[in-house]
Amino acid sequence: MLLVTGATGTVGRALVNRLVAADRPVRCLVRDPTKLGDLRARVQIAIADLAEPPLPRAAMRGVETVVHLASANRDADGATIEEVVVGGTARLVAAARAAGVERFVFFSALGARPWARPRLLRAKAVAEQIVRESGLRATIVRPSLVYARGDRYLQTIEACARGLGFVPLIGRGTARYRPIWADDVAACAQRLVALTSLPATVELCGPELLTQRQFCAAVLEALGLGRPLVPMPWPLVQRALAWSSSLAGDAVPAPDEAELLLESGLCVDSTAADVRSLGVEPLPVARVLS
Ligand SMILES: NC(=O)c1ccc[n+]([C@@H]2O[C@H](COP(=O)([O-])OP(=O)(O)OC[C@H]3O[C@@H](n4cnc5c(N)ncnc54)[C@H](OP(=O)(O)O)[C@@H]3O)[C@@H](O)[C@H]2O)c1
Repeated sequence: MLLVTGATGTVGRALVNRLVAADRPVRCLVRDPTKLGDLRARVQIAIADLAEPPLPRAAMRGVETVVHLASANRDADGATIEEVVVGGTARLVAAARAAGVERFVFFSALGARPWARPRLLRAKAVAEQIVRESGLRATIVRPSLVYARGDRYLQTIEACARGLGFVPLIGRGTARYRPIWADDVAACAQRLVALTSLPATVELCGPELLTQRQFCAAVLEALGLGRPLVPMPWPLVQRALAWSSSLAGDAVPAPDEAELLLESGLCVDSTAADVRSLGVEPLPVARVLS
């Protein structure tokens, strides 16, 4: 049995669809099972909030591998980024150890370092350490920017293009990513859990090195929207988002989410080699969005 956390997220949904299609028994740890849609009928469900201990013991029953995708890019009522990413991972690891789970696949992020500027990357670095020191057979997976049609970032780009008439670039728009399609990430996760021996670390990068400007331009082109891309100084974006998200809640990106887009230039030395070594040929952005 595989336990998948974050099954309602962009990668989780793609992964669970693949596992179910391959007839792998899956249990999804979710806060709200209705978000699984039709998949609900095809998986086991454990209802839990990783920010609210304790985890139900039944969640780990019969589980040999955990794929831990759940994460928070922003604070929410009652759960900070650190509470979900660090506290939630520590609790999940403890529950996995207590239940005799054999393997643990933890989704971190490229650029996770204790001194990184975005809180999420600092929290991921601490969570990586917890997983590494757990004694479980573990893989740390570090994706670059993950995208899919209709995901939060692409929706924001489209909303700005249609609502503002332009798309703000955070900073100069020169931060670089190796964007990887969520379904390619899911394919890699599916291959990983089928391996008998897990690698210690896997970097998940798409085939192209794109600046934020180039990525946004590719999204606008796929949407058929010709709109200017306007660089905006980070302090200004930060203030605007703090103000608008205090009014509109999570309909608007929080400064913590947007800050991640400034920092992902750390993938410059990474490549798609690990993705290809898992037997997945990652697609370029234009192909995915066309
Ligand atoms: N997207 C990227 O660009 C990117 C880049 C690098 C690394 N990653 C990592 O890759 C993984 C998958 O990313 P993603 O884009 O698929 O994430 P996502 O779409 O943001 O989904 C996050 C998932 O975590 C769940 N979650 C949040 N708080 C929770 C809590 N307190 N208890 C239980 N579940 C909780 C959410 O459940 P609800 O539906 O209930 O909210 C959702 O299923 C994450 O670990 C992420 O940090 C992503």
